Amino acid sequence: MSDQISETLQKKIADRLGFYEDLGIRTFYRDRGTPVASVAQQQLETVGVLIHSNVFPSEERTLPKTARKPEVPKPAPTIGQPAPRVSPLPLPVSTAPSLFESIEKVADDTLLKIREDLGDCMRCKLHSTRNKIVFGDGNPKAELVFVGEGPGADEDAQGLPFVGRAGKLLTQMIEAMGLQRKDVYICNVVKCRPPENRQPEEDEVHTCSPFLLRQIDTIAPKVVVCLGATAAKTLLQTNRGISQFRGEWLEFRGRKLLATYHPAYLLRNPPAKSEVWKDLQKVMAVLGLEVKKGKSA
Ligand code: URA
Repeated sequence: MSDQISETLQKKIADRLGFYEDLGIRTFYRDRGTPVASVAQQQLETVGVLIHSNVFPSEERTLPKTARKPEVPKPAPTIGQPAPRVSPLPLPVSTAPSLFESIEKVADDTLLKIREDLGDCMRCKLHSTRNKIVFGDGNPKAELVFVGEGPGADEDAQGLPFVGRAGKLLTQMIEAMGLQRKDVYICNVVKCRPPENRQPEEDEVHTCSPFLLRQIDTIAPKVVVCLGATAAKTLLQTNRGISQFRGEWLEFRGRKLLATYHPAYLLRNPPAKSEVWKDLQKVMAVLGLEVKKGKSA
């Protein structure tokens, strides 16, 4: 077997390594006993397996056979100790002056009022293709709020956020943190499913995000976790790629915000789970949840 790597293979390896570098993964090893060409091939095929953590076990092993029952919000168990004081956190992204900073908190607001104000919303074009509005779900006094992008097919059918494949993974992530879904609040940037699961468009985000803002203000969590670029870009009002500020503590309307990868992205790229788990451990530390050293199963 030739020990030369073809140009095409070299390019594939370079692309793949660039992809992992974007995820913050820079350490790879090579089995020295294996001929170069097949090592290169193996790296392409198995590098993710070598480095990814098993904190959120693979779907095949853990998905329940039956659909999860929708959770009814219940009064909150408080999570952990008081968080350390939040110092002003500089946003390491260049932003236009935030649209949201000028929007004031609505006095005496409640999730119920917000839901009533949303009504049978027809404010944007998404209303014409949706089945159910997916307002949000969970503990109205949660210390931790997860914000996703927008409902998919399962969410649209059930009217609940994150109940499909990505939702199952999010549930595993929450449980790996030592919490349950009913302890946290889960919502999305847009409340209606974009057709074909496309990204929500600017006008749709613009129309819907004031409701999200009110939800966050009302719940008043210690920490907001943005799941994916759409949530992060919307709340932080930035066009920067999420990999530039993922896992960093930022400030959003006086609260701590951290952006991490979307569970749907993790389904496509399991190696990135280890990065997300590191991010969630930071969140656990702030919420006073026990961070289990070396937990990886
Ligand atoms: N993806 C999201 O961003 N939100 C959901 O509710 C489900 C999938």
